[in-house]
Amino acid sequence: YNYTDVLHKSILFYEAQRSGRLPPNNRIPWRGDSAMNDRGGPGEDLTGGYYDAGDHVKFGFPMAFSITMLAWGVIEYWDVYRTSGELEAAIDSLKWGTDYLLKAHVAPNVLYGQVSFNTATADHRYWGRPEDMSSNNRPAYKIDRFKPGSDLAAETAAAMAATSLAIRRKENATRYVRRLITHAKDLFNFASTYKKLYHISIPNAKKYYKSTSFKDELTWAALWLYRATGENKYLKNAEGKYMNWALFQLPHKLRFSWDDKKAGIQMLMVSNTLKRGAQRTIKNYCSAVRSRNANYTSKGLLYLHEWSPLRYAANTAFICLMAADAGIDPTINAAWGRRQIHYMLGDTGRSYVVGFGSRYPLRPHHRASSCPPRPQTCNWSHKESDNPNHFILNGALVGGPDYNDTFQDSRSNFKQNEVALDYNAGFQVFGLLLQYFELDI
Ligand SMILES: *[C@@H]1O[C@H](CO)[C@@H](O)[C@H](O)[C@H]1NC(C)=O
Ligand SMILES: *[C@@H]1O[C@H](CO)[C@@H](O)[C@H](O)[C@H]1NC(C)=O
Ligand SMILES: *[C@@H]1O[C@H](CO)[C@@H](O)[C@H](O)[C@H]1NC(C)=O
Ligand SMILES: *[C@@H]1O[C@H](CO)[C@@H](O)[C@H](O)[C@H]1NC(C)=O
Ligand SMILES: *[C@@H]1O[C@H](CO)[C@@H](O)[C@H](O)[C@H]1NC(C)=O
Repeated sequence: YNYTDVLHKSILFYEAQRSGRLPPNNRIPWRGDSAMNDRGGPGEDLTGGYYDAGDHVKFGFPMAFSITMLAWGVIEYWDVYRTSGELEAAIDSLKWGTDYLLKAHVAPNVLYGQVSFNTATADHRYWGRPEDMSSNNRPAYKIDRFKPGSDLAAETAAAMAATSLAIRRKENATRYVRRLITHAKDLFNFASTYKKLYHISIPNAKKYYKSTSFKDELTWAALWLYRATGENKYLKNAEGKYMNWALFQLPHKLRFSWDDKKAGIQMLMVSNTLKRGAQRTIKNYCSAVRSRNANYTSKGLLYLHEWSPLRYAANTAFICLMAADAGIDPTINAAWGRRQIHYMLGDTGRSYVVGFGSRYPLRPHHRASSCPPRPQTCNWSHKESDNPNHFILNGALVGGPDYNDTFQDSRSNFKQNEVALDYNAGFQVFGLLLQYFELDI
């Protein structure tokens, strides 16, 4: 498989999800400016950011996690991004995210965490282009001292801290890096001082991205802040939480996701502190994932969830490939991670990445790419038809097959054929794969 090509397209997927005013160098010809009236209650500018999936909701929690993960890949594999010609585009994608998160963080203890047409459910009743949707009546939902959200604030802090590291080596980034770090520190304080699950404060998000715990995000954010600032107090903070909250345990159902960051924390502990205990923890995680007790389809996909199994397999592949790179069971973990990614790229005779390889999904559940060119109208008839999407949503990883390795390429099957920011976040492991498997040829 041409890893450079998947990496390239995977970044294009993020460009197709952009909200707000698109730049002159926009590479997605069928996308234009949209949601230009997104504002906070008192009128703060909240244009920009990313649409979450096949819809037009800007969900802050998974958006921030996706940015943190993308930044992690760029930080670790900067040279690979550079030599494959994708560094500028990757950094643009990160900044497109953090520009929005900086706007959304309007005061030290106030962060907007969602913008959608009325409610997320009402947003989902519209099938059409983001450019055509009524841009009024898109209220923004925030967290503050009275209605806090530690998980959301901490994940946003993590995204900013990680991005500050990813762009630091770029010329002229100093001022922006300082801004990111200031905001990340404020958000971390906010998250640590006023503790609550964010979906209690933004109940609109609950049906889609209900958070299980904020303990992982608080620890994850502290680790990223330590890495970005070198200030020891963040490491001490993270290590205390890691022990007190037993975050060294195997994650629930072995999942690493927008909701549960334990495996990511364990891997960051390895890179940050080089403690032997942390190495053992991540070694155990990857062994558990590879073991006979973990759930696999007969064709070899790690199957941790019926909903979008590919993202869970991709996220775990990201961790175990990184573990391999850190010298933890390198041969076996690297081979395992590569096999998972190759399943997605075509090993079973079909690709699960739109626009890549042979037999890729033609009908991803995605409004914008399903619509015909303007000025033709777009409505539910375009969702219901059997025709392929009008435009190719290059680089999008879809949800994936059922437990029998069976996949239905239908727009109506959003369980298998939707796409999302967080699906592509860990999937973007090609920096790693290139470093590991390609540099010697
Ligand atoms: C792989 O993809 C890249 C980027 O799309 C392209 O430039 C390159 O020619 C491809 N390599 C091969 C061997 O096809
Ligand atoms: C960096 O900033 C200086 C002064 O603002 C400007 O002249 C220069 O072109 C910038 N360099 C890059 C690579 O953007
Ligand atoms: C594996 O996943 C399938 C599909 O979700 C489920 O039916 C089955 O019970 C799972 N098996 C184990 C051992 O968890
Ligand atoms: C939906 O779009 C189709 C195809 O462009 C068009 O024929 C139809 O009139 C539209 N329906 C409505 C309710 O606008
Ligand atoms: C998998 O196939 C078996 C046997 O054909 C069937 O009973 C089962 O319902 C299928 N599972 C799924 C998730 O489709």
